[in-house]
Amino acid sequence: MQRTLAILKPDSVAAGDAGKILAHLEREGFTVVAIKKMRLTREQAEAFYEVHRERPFYGSLVDFMTSGPIIPLALEREDAVRRLREVMGATNPAEAAAGTLRKLYARSIEANAIHGSDSPENAREELRFFFSRAELIAS
Ligand code: CMP
Repeated sequence: MQRTLAILKPDSVAAGDAGKILAHLEREGFTVVAIKKMRLTREQAEAFYEVHRERPFYGSLVDFMTSGPIIPLALEREDAVRRLREVMGATNPAEAAAGTLRKLYARSIEANAIHGSDSPENAREELRFFFSRAELIAS
């Protein structure tokens, strides 16, 4: 079993797609270990996306991720990191395969509905960014 972090981004939460995305993830075999709804401060969003600081889209990404509430999820299943990225589809919804979450729910390359950790190491770090140790104890 492996864990990964997903974030339902401000666009999908505002559109009322959170329940549908959660049901889709459960159908794909993911178990929800922890879930919360929150709004990132600018400082938190800047810290979370620190690796993208030099990218031209960084400022806009921070604006977007602080524009409304998000729903971070700690998800568990076998091969969770790789499988979540498959289920999400390509970053740009125009390039995402049919049936993937981004094809179904994303609006643009920036407002792309959902985030998923890109490696097991980053998953561990990102899970700890959003959830306390106590929240990550399996129920
Ligand atoms: P994600 O891969 O979850 O994390 C980085 C985010 O930056 C990405 O989702 C998009 O929301 C955003 N992003 C990536 N590439 C671009 C781009 N070319 N233009 C605007 N936003 C982008």
